[in-house]
Amino acid sequence: MNAPATLKSDPISEVAANSYDVDRIRADFPAMSLIINDHPLVFLDSGASAQKPVQVLERMDRAYREEYANVHRGAYRLSELATENYENARKTVAKFMNAASVGEIVFTRNATAAINLVASSYGRAFLAEGDEIIISYMEHHANIVPWQMLRDEKGIVIKVAPIDDDGNFLMQEFAEMLTPKTKLVAITHTSNVLGTITPIKDIAQLAHDHGALVLFDGAQGIVHCGVDVQDVDADFYVFTGHKLYGPTGIGVLYGKKELLEKMPPYQGGGDMVELVTFEKTTYREPPVRFEAGTPPIIEAVGLAAAIDYVNGIGLEAIQAHEAELLAYATERMGAMNELRIIGRARQKCAIISFTLDGVHPHDIGTIIDSRGVAVRAGHHCAQPLMDRFGVAATARASFAMYNKKEEVDVLVDALNYAKEIFA
Ligand code: ALA
Repeated sequence: MNAPATLKSDPISEVAANSYDVDRIRADFPAMSLIINDHPLVFLDSGASAQKPVQVLERMDRAYREEYANVHRGAYRLSELATENYENARKTVAKFMNAASVGEIVFTRNATAAINLVASSYGRAFLAEGDEIIISYMEHHANIVPWQMLRDEKGIVIKVAPIDDDGNFLMQEFAEMLTPKTKLVAITHTSNVLGTITPIKDIAQLAHDHGALVLFDGAQGIVHCGVDVQDVDADFYVFTGHKLYGPTGIGVLYGKKELLEKMPPYQGGGDMVELVTFEKTTYREPPVRFEAGTPPIIEAVGLAAAIDYVNGIGLEAIQAHEAELLAYATERMGAMNELRIIGRARQKCAIISFTLDGVHPHDIGTIIDSRGVAVRAGHHCAQPLMDRFGVAATARASFAMYNKKEEVDVLVDALNYAKEIFA
């Protein structure tokens, strides 16, 4: 067997690594060369799911071709190699988030599954009738519905922290909502609709001062801001691979060791057990306690390759590039009279939700698609937030490391075209 013994993803192109060369980065992403409806694709829907660089695709391909077997099971070299790759991916994730130990990283199917894991395991075991959970107006349905299901089962109380009309998280109002009954604060790191970056470190400190735990939904946040879970003092932090330039089918639950250790299993099955008899089963330690069944082996390898890719370019460089895109797009779109930008928070990442007078967001999506521009239209899995702003839906342009200013110009031209059609 010629396969390398350890996980090592391909280095990104030297040019991209040494300076922010957006064209060179684009060359790593096959989707950037697509022609859609006779126009070059302008992909502005990375908030829904990001495109993948060849380094991720090739790494996964090689792992399937040359390094594939089930993990944690076989007493043979190929299975050992697959297991090493899978566990090395866990180390890559732990380092990326600055977790104190690799055992604090649980692989899940996506961010939604990670939140459901906490609600089902921690929530069922440690929350009782009358206990309070605070979420915010900005939450994605994935950080609302699992808590409602728990509320219906256990009688907990859900409180909703407000935001202002620009989409800023209101710290003072949040502080006033904390009571001795508050057991958990579950808040998004970054709104998928407004782009608001929430002050998660301050939120954690306030929550901890009141004896509550914090869970942060980092599905968007980790992509645009990164996270240091120790610095923030997060108790739980969840994210998904596919928005971070990695594959679908893999997500991460970070949980502090002492919390994961006391949490009961969520799903039962192979791999998560020590000993099974018909009378009784004993469970393994975290993280495997929470990884019943065959895990997303190659997806973990792909996620590690994506993190290597992001690290190779540098999160700070990506942030600076996206901040420029955001400023330019806000200026150009903001200059359109009939266009309303929803979400103008002081701390904001490169996500712009908007409406256009007289044109339904779905029509915006369809018309600009005819120019090759891909945006998301709808409620963005955040219906309560739509209600907060008095709209049923918005169109949303979300930017990523591979977008460039010229694409903002194409978007604005396409929006003017949509306006003309409906004039
Ligand atoms: N949560 C993803 C989005 O905001 C799907 O588009």
